[in-house]
Amino acid sequence: MMHNLLFYYLLFVGLVAAENGRQAWLRYAPLPRGHSTPTLPSTILALNSSASSPVYTAGQELQKGIQGIFGKRLSVHATGKQASSAVVGTASQFQKLFGSNPVKDELIEDGFWLNVKGGTVQILGQNERGALYGAFEYLSMLAQGNFSNVEYATNPAAPIRWVNSWDNMDGSIERGFAGKSVFFAGGHVASNLTRVSEYARLLSSIRINAVVVNNVNANFTTVNAENIAGVARIADVFRPYGIQLGLSLDFATPMKLGNLSTYDPLDSEVIAYWNAVTQQIYDHIFDFAGYLVKADSEGTPGPLVYNRTLADGANLFARALQPFGGIVMYRAFVYNQLPDEGDWKADRANAAVDYFQPLDGQFDDNVIIQIKYGPIDFQVREPASPLFANLPNTSTAIELQVAQEYLGQQCHLVYLPPLWRTILDFDLRVDNQSSLVRNVVTGERFKRPLGGSAAVVNVGLNDTWLGSHLAMSNLYAYGRLAWDWTSDSEEILQDWTRLTFGLDKTVVDTITQMSMASWPAYENYSGNLGEQTLTDILYTHFGPNPQTLDNTPWGQWTRADHTGIGMDRTVSTGTGFSGQYPPEVAAMYEDVETTPDDLLLWFHHVNYTQKLKSAKTVIQHFYDAHYEGAETAQRFVQMWQSLKGKVDDERFEDVLFRQSFQAGHSIVWRDAVVNFYNNVSGIPDDAGRVGHHPFRIEGENMVLSGYRPYAVTPFEAASNATAIVTTTNSTVGTATAMLDFASGVYDLAVNYFDLYGGNSTYQVFVNSRLIGEWIGNAVDIGKLGHSPSIYLDGHSATRITFPKVSIKRGDTLKIVGEANGVEPAPLDYVAVLPAGVVD
Ligand code: GCU
Repeated sequence: MMHNLLFYYLLFVGLVAAENGRQAWLRYAPLPRGHSTPTLPSTILALNSSASSPVYTAGQELQKGIQGIFGKRLSVHATGKQASSAVVGTASQFQKLFGSNPVKDELIEDGFWLNVKGGTVQILGQNERGALYGAFEYLSMLAQGNFSNVEYATNPAAPIRWVNSWDNMDGSIERGFAGKSVFFAGGHVASNLTRVSEYARLLSSIRINAVVVNNVNANFTTVNAENIAGVARIADVFRPYGIQLGLSLDFATPMKLGNLSTYDPLDSEVIAYWNAVTQQIYDHIFDFAGYLVKADSEGTPGPLVYNRTLADGANLFARALQPFGGIVMYRAFVYNQLPDEGDWKADRANAAVDYFQPLDGQFDDNVIIQIKYGPIDFQVREPASPLFANLPNTSTAIELQVAQEYLGQQCHLVYLPPLWRTILDFDLRVDNQSSLVRNVVTGERFKRPLGGSAAVVNVGLNDTWLGSHLAMSNLYAYGRLAWDWTSDSEEILQDWTRLTFGLDKTVVDTITQMSMASWPAYENYSGNLGEQTLTDILYTHFGPNPQTLDNTPWGQWTRADHTGIGMDRTVSTGTGFSGQYPPEVAAMYEDVETTPDDLLLWFHHVNYTQKLKSAKTVIQHFYDAHYEGAETAQRFVQMWQSLKGKVDDERFEDVLFRQSFQAGHSIVWRDAVVNFYNNVSGIPDDAGRVGHHPFRIEGENMVLSGYRPYAVTPFEAASNATAIVTTTNSTVGTATAMLDFASGVYDLAVNYFDLYGGNSTYQVFVNSRLIGEWIGNAVDIGKLGHSPSIYLDGHSATRITFPKVSIKRGDTLKIVGEANGVEPAPLDYVAVLPAGVVD
């Protein structure tokens, strides 16, 4: 009875019941009131009753899903042949019980067959994992109110559909923005693995088949006896979901843990050491997936230390794993720091092909070279890595990042599939034949037995998993695309939205519009024309700081000077990078005329006055794009607000908070980048916007008491290069100004800096009327989760807006800021904005 009451209550409140996001797209929410119901099966027949089997999991999941969506609890059986059962199992289990095999198409590993005829449902996998995928697929249809009769087989594009976690043994996560690790704490495997099991469920529903649980910057203790036993517990949790476990390795483990005097990959003791470690792992985890290796990369040890080749390094592990059927994912992210930007031929982008191409054919069959999508590092726009075209005799996989390291750190909405598709759909024209990157990495183009993809995913203990509800579409879409790279990014997004937020058309349309506009907007206000994300590459990768890209050994150069910008990567006059592509593509990139605008500065050094195909100059395009991008981000706030009442309050408020942050931070980005290039080039903005802010009152121009001006570095992170800070760290400062604006209603936007290590409080008054107050604590309490900063800079710059404030000309604006900790209540400016104006 209680159950029924709860069900009707949920039906009544429908979509607006509070939710924290932990169920993500597997909520199995009741369909909206009045929605039709299909003929449902009357029982569930799951053809394996062992609790560690994916088929058993599938039976449980079907029960849970149907109960959630329709309020009907079906019993689950392992034997018996009732009519109108939903049968789930492998094709061979079905054959054994029923003496026939209804699967009409060919299934390959992990593939499944789904046959829905009203109450008759057959879900048959090639293996147990496939059967579980099929069960999730059927439930996804039901949860979206799709009751069509279907009968089809589906197979994966590639066998490797992995996730890489960059989790450290101490529980921190490299580039993690959503709390601590679900896997590790205090140097050990976590004792409570509940979240791991919930995570495995999400991943299996999107057909991920292995997870490398620890950071590529691996700790050698990962493979000590205690931790092997620990990760075996994780593998036990993964197994019922059809997910295998993999580990990242420290190449120098034989020395650091094994007490050998060398880690030379050709040394017999080293070989014996790795064989023994591998044996030990398989003793604990019989279905261990394999190793992920970051060697000779950003300071990690590797074979080059001993003048051995990268193939020697990879094959060392391949041979240890081969008897057990394991594989090595060997990362291509190998490059050296480059001391001299003045050397016109030096180019980090060349490194991967320089290192790996000569070794093509020397890797064992169970080695896969894992290649980041672009030649540098997960930038907002990169060309496809030319390495995909240079290894015809080697298996490869593409590495993507669901983690938005350079793309707003999950505080900015950036739906990534359209970016990924620019790479995967790119035709490399190897031997003048169609050679789409996706067909290379699936193994199809070069007839390789292995291949696929890995995505870096930074889920943490935060209930939202990624810190942001909307960012979850990237994880969902990654799995869907890894199964079929030709699936439509927008359709995937809409499936995700219906599953996550319900079937309301306005909700689906709005989230679709916002998400599809999000990557172009972010590219517009972060770094366009192939310049890369103009973030701070030295400290963290969040806010703007274009100058850090140049004059550093990291080789992410833009070579911006007074007259021009861009890397000359041509063969004729530059670094020769364009020549790493097959001839047709190389010719396209060699010539400014045939290089697409969005990669112009990646391949060419041009004057700021160079005309684009749009007929705009490079510099005017910078200006216009940054204004356009930031304006789009403002619209996301209104679009999201229009969903009030249609999305439950908890998630509505969470998203609204992030969208408001993004709107403010997009203006920080815009101003920083346009001011920076305006300053270097000395060329004014045709539209007169840059450096001209008629609606702003600069903090340093206010009457200050207990506050003093402060020159911000980098200069472009503050309006007029200057902020104000309290005179000491325990002072209450006041800043006042006369409001010289026509009487009316305005939005008051206050730009301040939210530093890590302090929670300043602020109050805004108009005359004696308190308009608003807040605490600069979003960073300290982890509310936003992005990499924190202890400085006044582009990372900490934040905006808060108080809408619809009535003012009269001559009123007094007063801000009271109280310092706290290291944070001297820093304030940049107040913008007094007429309705609809973006300052
Ligand atoms: C980026 C990232 C590092 C990471 C590295 C890698 O440079 O900032 O945190 O370790 O990539 O992919 O290995």
